[in-house]
Amino acid sequence: MSVLSGKKILLGVTAGIAAYKTAFLVRLFIKAGAQVKVVMTPAAREFVTPLTLSTLSKNEVISSFTKEEDHKNQWNNHVDLGLWADLMLVAPATANTLSKMATGNSDNFLLATYLSAKCPVYFAPAMDLDMYRHPSTKESFEKLISFGNVMIPATSGELASGLSGEGRMAEPEDILNFIEAHLAESLPLRNKRVLITAGPTYEPIDPVRFIGNHSSGKMGYELAAAAHAAGARVILISGPTHLPNPHKDIHLIRVQSAREMFVAATKYFPSVDIAIASAAVSDYRPRISAAQKIKKTSEVMELELVKNPDILATLGSGKKDQVLVGFALETENEEENAASKLERKNLDFIVLNSLNDKGAGFKTETNKIKILFRNGTLKKFDLKPKEEVARDILNEIIELINE
Ligand code: C5P
Repeated sequence: MSVLSGKKILLGVTAGIAAYKTAFLVRLFIKAGAQVKVVMTPAAREFVTPLTLSTLSKNEVISSFTKEEDHKNQWNNHVDLGLWADLMLVAPATANTLSKMATGNSDNFLLATYLSAKCPVYFAPAMDLDMYRHPSTKESFEKLISFGNVMIPATSGELASGLSGEGRMAEPEDILNFIEAHLAESLPLRNKRVLITAGPTYEPIDPVRFIGNHSSGKMGYELAAAAHAAGARVILISGPTHLPNPHKDIHLIRVQSAREMFVAATKYFPSVDIAIASAAVSDYRPRISAAQKIKKTSEVMELELVKNPDILATLGSGKKDQVLVGFALETENEEENAASKLERKNLDFIVLNSLNDKGAGFKTETNKIKILFRNGTLKKFDLKPKEEVARDILNEIIELINE
């Protein structure tokens, strides 16, 4: 999967002949799984039609501050659009637009959107060779790079003027590859290995019955997906769930019982940088698992239970420089209990969710968490979809790593 999958890309098209290539560019972004919105300078509309780009991007193409036709009294909101984007690409970027971007001129919608955007901005220059090497153009490049924008250099070749030299906009495939590589490089968990336990465990009573719990595994799978999206190599050790592997590059190990989860987790833990134990591990298992289905012969049946190994505590006791995170699902005295687990299991932080909070805990799509750190700090989060909760948890881990 491309790092661009799910990303919101704002493509700014300016008035250069290479604008015709933006149709291919939009197609490539869409194929990579991105959402695309296009803004154009008024003059760019002479080079490629808004109809083509809106059809390919499946979004309205904007090139003026006000709405067109019968909505003339309404305005297009460049601020919202700038904030919507995960990344902005100006391609082709003419000498004129680059110079305006470098000086903060915002006399068209594209420029105002650029000034409002908080996301990474890439620009792919396209112009004639003498314009490309003119000191003023070079100054624009340098200034824009010094602002944190990323230049996708033009290549050499035949130019629209008939001359040959530097100034051809990079080809759409090369622009896509450039952005993908650049984004991958800047992912916060690149080169990190993450181990996640998820789901319930089933402790066999006999071949058909088990002791289990209501965990759906959703939180752990979201954590795995978010860690992967942040560039990590992920090992997901999952008890029985109905969930598919969030991504083919995630190493999913399916287990049934706590002891199987223990074996897998302790095997991989020494080789990872981060471990998150979100599994709802059964604390006890039947001492004996019957080889044959138990018959209902007696009125009362006694089941002798023995304690399962505490996977997280074992990882904690063998911890070297890994970041180790646990979960606590409590029904009472949550903060005290969580604090003692944090200590006992040697964690960097513990995520608390309370069954008393509506929408939090097992089998829900949402979760409401608090995070307790070793120094006693307690951070409270709002009720959110588990996907966002996973990102919040990973952001805390990233902060710890970067400390
Ligand atoms: O002690 P308690 O079960 O409440 O602790 C919960 C945390 O410990 C969770 O992160 C859970 O994944 C982990 N755990 C474990 N092995 C167990 C019990 C809990 O890894 N046997």
